[in-house]
Amino acid sequence: MTIEDYYGDKYVILKQIEKNLLELIENYPRQEELEGVQPIIYCKSRIKSPDSMRTKLRKQGFSEDSQTALEQMHDAVGIRIICSFVDDVYEVAEWLCGRDEYEVTEKKDYIAWPKPNGYRSLHLILRMKEGEGKGIQAEIQIRTIAIDFWAALEHQMKYKHQVEHEKMMWEELKCCADEIASVDMSMQTIRDFIRGEKAAVKK
Ligand code: GTP
Ligand code: MG
Repeated sequence: MTIEDYYGDKYVILKQIEKNLLELIENYPRQEELEGVQPIIYCKSRIKSPDSMRTKLRKQGFSEDSQTALEQMHDAVGIRIICSFVDDVYEVAEWLCGRDEYEVTEKKDYIAWPKPNGYRSLHLILRMKEGEGKGIQAEIQIRTIAIDFWAALEHQMKYKHQVEHEKMMWEELKCCADEIASVDMSMQTIRDFIRGEKAAVKK
């Protein structure tokens, strides 16, 4: 089944929401670029495939049609924003929470409260307020580039069956997540020093 077949009339609306959100993020004020390190490195987006949407609905005991999907699931439209520093993640999130095209119905901070496997990201769930897409939800994940690198490998591990030394690999991944978090913190501290923020606080 094609994605258009599954979402029907709603597919163009989902694509429009995706496009609008990407355009909005494109307009994030980027004064930092003058200093050489951009707050948003890049964005990725996708409309959830029929296969993975139906699997998710089935797992949660819902019927697998797209109407149920758009009512019950919040990630038919998914955007991922990759930032340089942890502070950028929070600043971008705060900026996104202040827009009025949608309401932010949920905020999950897995940076302050990492998942047991070490996953760190900030997730926002939005609900569109106006137009044809009114009521449709979207998920925005915001994370550092270092954690994104980790998440890609962790995701691959999850879907790979029969990994040799699996337990050890998961433990190793957890260690990597913690090391990355520590590097992210150090990078942040260095950036703060370069900007003179720490110096200003001390004065
Ligand atoms: P689903 O996980 O999508 O069923 O939704 P949820 O309500 O559990 O939300 P959660 O915020 O935990 O996850 C939403 C999305 O974040 C997932 O679909 C993944 O894209 C991403 N994500 C969450 N946890 C992890 C993780 O441990 N590893 C990786 N690589 N991605 C994750
Ligand atoms: Mg989950």
